[in-house]
Amino acid sequence: MVRIGISPDPSHSGGEPPAPRHVAIIMDGNGRWANSRGLPRTAGHERGVEALRRTVEAARDLGISYLTVFSFSTENWRRPASEVNTLFGLLKAYVQRDLERLKQDGVRIRVIGQREGLPADIAALVDRAERETAHNTRFHLTIAFNYGSRNEILRAATAYAQAIADGTCKGAATEDGFAAFLDTRDLPDPDLVIRTSGEFRISNFLLWQAAYAELLFVDVLWPDFNRAHLESAISRYHERERRFGSVNPGAT
Ligand code: IPE
Ligand code: IPE
Ligand code: MG
Repeated sequence: MVRIGISPDPSHSGGEPPAPRHVAIIMDGNGRWANSRGLPRTAGHERGVEALRRTVEAARDLGISYLTVFSFSTENWRRPASEVNTLFGLLKAYVQRDLERLKQDGVRIRVIGQREGLPADIAALVDRAERETAHNTRFHLTIAFNYGSRNEILRAATAYAQAIADGTCKGAATEDGFAAFLDTRDLPDPDLVIRTSGEFRISNFLLWQAAYAELLFVDVLWPDFNRAHLESAISRYHERERRFGSVNPGAT
């Protein structure tokens, strides 16, 4: 099969096709995982953090350079306060516990989403994690927390309009000019977006950035997600033909 447009991995030396450069995951199904075992939803979220640890390690081993995970949406505030508190506590514990190791492993951490409205201790921790890993280039872990695409696009549009009005940005608005105001300004677009839990929706995740991403919906609850599932997702990605609106070079 002829494939075009898959971002080449410069370190790749033949044999297996290169892994997608940027994989984004909607980590869904923690509540159902817990419910099916008669456990509280919080137990599912706790096990979800372990799945995240496994996935970060597997992604690095498999040659993925950018992993972006959806961890808390701007709409998740609609959940009971106790569940929201648990999710905030788990993010805090994850960053606190894993920061040193991620730093040493050359991982650059970014957190995208609306920073405003986050509890001060979490905002400070996130700032610290970003600052202390800013020089790392081996692997890029981006956590979408208090993130919603519409919220991001609105913030970016407001800032871009302001920059055009005050002359900081010259000329007419462009797609690249706009994208430079998104939270993902330093990241390539995702090549593959995976959603676990069997739901077939995007739920306000990377709407601009995933314009040409391959979408994969897998019937696995997030706490069960493991290296084999990621490998299988990459294999399925390799079966896809990306055309970006063009035609297959072999087409007649
Ligand atoms: C994903 O699992 C975690 C978040 C959305 C924060 P859910 O909590 O949505 O689990 P389900 O979808 O209810 O099973
Ligand atoms: C999407 O999952 C958000 C995250 C995984 C953080 P949800 O569980 O919030 O999405 P919906 O409500 O089923 O669309
Ligand atoms: Mg869900």
